[in-house]
Amino acid sequence: MPADVIAIANQKGGEGKTTTSINLAHGLSLAGKKTLLVDMDPQGNSSGIFADLDSIQKTVAELFLKKVKAEEIIYPTRYDNLFLMPAKISLAEVELSTLNVDAPYVLRDCLETIRKEFDAIVIDCPPSLSIFTINALGAASHVVIPLQAEKFSIDGIKGLQSTIEGIKRRINPELKILGALITQLKSNTLLTKTILPVIQNYFPVFHTSISTGVAVGESHLSRRSLLDYNPSVKQAKEYQAFVREVIDGLKK
Ligand SMILES: Nc1ncnc2c1ncn2[C@@H]1O[C@H](COP(=O)(O)OP(=O)(O)OP(=O)(O)O)[C@@H](O)[C@H]1O
Ligand SMILES: [Mg+2]
Repeated sequence: MPADVIAIANQKGGEGKTTTSINLAHGLSLAGKKTLLVDMDPQGNSSGIFADLDSIQKTVAELFLKKVKAEEIIYPTRYDNLFLMPAKISLAEVELSTLNVDAPYVLRDCLETIRKEFDAIVIDCPPSLSIFTINALGAASHVVIPLQAEKFSIDGIKGLQSTIEGIKRRINPELKILGALITQLKSNTLLTKTILPVIQNYFPVFHTSISTGVAVGESHLSRRSLLDYNPSVKQAKEYQAFVREVIDGLKK
């Protein structure tokens, strides 16, 4: 069976895409799935957790410039069963004018050749609807949408839904929405009373939500997944429950 490919997407910044990508990828690997985390964000945030970016030359940028094959940019991480396809700031410099008509399909074509080597592939997207997010959604079998239960997060939800629908129509009819994941939750009352029904109008919502806690930022500082940094903290347990929901969702 070729890998399930899960894009973690939201064009709004700071909604928890990278935190979710890191912990979903590590959680899937802990569940015995050979997992590849693909970083499609020039910020390189998830890559920086698993690799020393200064010492890495070949990244996703070189893939877009057709200078490397997929296998050449798959790096092991300190975690068993978990591999990284990194990005760094050089990705922002990939001159879009040098890309040709197959630009939306670069990642899909590349993953096609390695999909049978993995059980799961998780793609961390940038905070924009750039060609890189389009590549991720074009290559994915499933999409997860992390978002905060806040007014400004809801404002972009309609645009995101129509982007996903557009990708399904034009590029990737196979794409399935696994669900929206509420992150950085401060108050359950506000969520259940006012915001949850709004989100449910657009996307199915995971039962699990991720609360706000300092351990999340600390885990990033220590360059570890939260599941590794402190598996007994509340947010780690929530991410573990989310991983189980994803595994169940993939079976459907
Ligand atoms: N559950 C949480 N509790 C506390 N802080 C969190 C939580 N989730 C994320 N954060 C913090 O919020 C910030 C944004 O999170 P993250 O980088 O995961 O979002 P993102 O969507 O990837 O951002 P970007 O759009 O810039 O790529 C980070 O500083 C992160 O440490
Ligand atoms: Mg990010």
